[in-house]
Amino acid sequence: MAASRLALHGGAPVRGPDKSWPAWPVFDDAERRALNETLESCAWWYGERVAAFEGAFAAFQGAAHCVSCTSGTTAGEIAIQAMDIAPGDEVIVPPYTFIATATCVARMGGTPVFVDVDDAWNLNADLIDAAITPRTRAIMPVHFSGRVCDMDRINAIAARHGAAVIEDACHAWGATYQGKGAGTLGKAGIFSFQMSKNITAGEGGAIVTDDPDFAEVCRSITHCGRGSDSAWYGHVRVGTNARLTEFQAAVLNAQLGRLEEQTIRRERNGERLAAVLAQVEGLTPQPGDPRITRRAYHLFCLRIDPERFGCSRDAFVRAAEAEGLPIGAGYGMPIYHQQAFRSGRFAGRYDAVSCPVAEDLCYRSGMWFSHQLLLGDEADIADIIEIVHKIKANAAALRAMDADEE
Ligand SMILES: Cc1ncc(COP(=O)(O)O)c(C=O)c1O
Repeated sequence: MAASRLALHGGAPVRGPDKSWPAWPVFDDAERRALNETLESCAWWYGERVAAFEGAFAAFQGAAHCVSCTSGTTAGEIAIQAMDIAPGDEVIVPPYTFIATATCVARMGGTPVFVDVDDAWNLNADLIDAAITPRTRAIMPVHFSGRVCDMDRINAIAARHGAAVIEDACHAWGATYQGKGAGTLGKAGIFSFQMSKNITAGEGGAIVTDDPDFAEVCRSITHCGRGSDSAWYGHVRVGTNARLTEFQAAVLNAQLGRLEEQTIRRERNGERLAAVLAQVEGLTPQPGDPRITRRAYHLFCLRIDPERFGCSRDAFVRAAEAEGLPIGAGYGMPIYHQQAFRSGRFAGRYDAVSCPVAEDLCYRSGMWFSHQLLLGDEADIADIIEIVHKIKANAAALRAMDADEE
């Protein structure tokens, strides 16, 4: 049977504009009511709703403490500051992540040290030892897309070298590893509630930890450096104002009420999709790990081998978009290639750094789409599968386009 013509080449798309994907963010009367109640209460500032959210989120992740703050970026900066990271101190981070994982170290005066990711898109535990120096203070693994890293090995390496583990769990709300929540597997974990995230108030962040002293220092930093028993104008350290508002907490409390069910739905759809797409020659979904007891699926990550699949990643992405699948090529470069890390005090610092897997993901093979598509029903997942099969069947025509553009 001849392959049906791609939308990119004038055929009918699998999903036309009449068929929309699940919308994000999800909200209903729970958010409306909570926002209105907050408005009418005239108590808009950092009070009982923030405290309720912190308690509920700590319980959701299985942590003893949660300190909320204004974003995942500030959560990272606060956690790094609370570690007393000083100029010259090094923190190991992956190069394939949002830039905040590295800038939180840099802005606090430390130096990010980039260690490549592995085929699971996460920090490669095999490569960490070689990057450790006497100045290594912490390792910051990122549970990319909500798939938890090899925490057994990362924790063991960190313990051997006296380094702390701060998990960047900004994609991993509800993810678990051997039954334990992401963010509770090391010294502390950071979370984001920015608009694109699986639970959101537009912006927002949190640090979770089981260490009461660390939690207190983080709290103090978010609260202008006040100590737990300081006078109002008594400041025990240099902090900042990173407080969440009651409006944000009102929304987050409502959002948290849906997170468990949504996480289960995303995981069920994600696993179903991964099982089918793994059968397509030249495509590899981000792999699982039996120790991961729940994946959060902030993103659905897929890797293409252009030679085996039959066309380039960029051709795949363009064809998929034309068919109605909003998939993207992800980060355009590893963090050490960003101007931010090629200039100022970092000029020349990373010139010799080469992380082949991260570079391959950025420049050749990585693709992802966003979590809300996984909130759909079986017909939505079937459409994604149909689109991928259609592109595969037309790979030769796409390859011809690739060749024309060369
Ligand atoms: C892995 C990772 N870390 C940190 C952050 C920073 O979070 P925020 O956008 O809330 O500052 C993000 C946000 O995209 C992220 O994806």
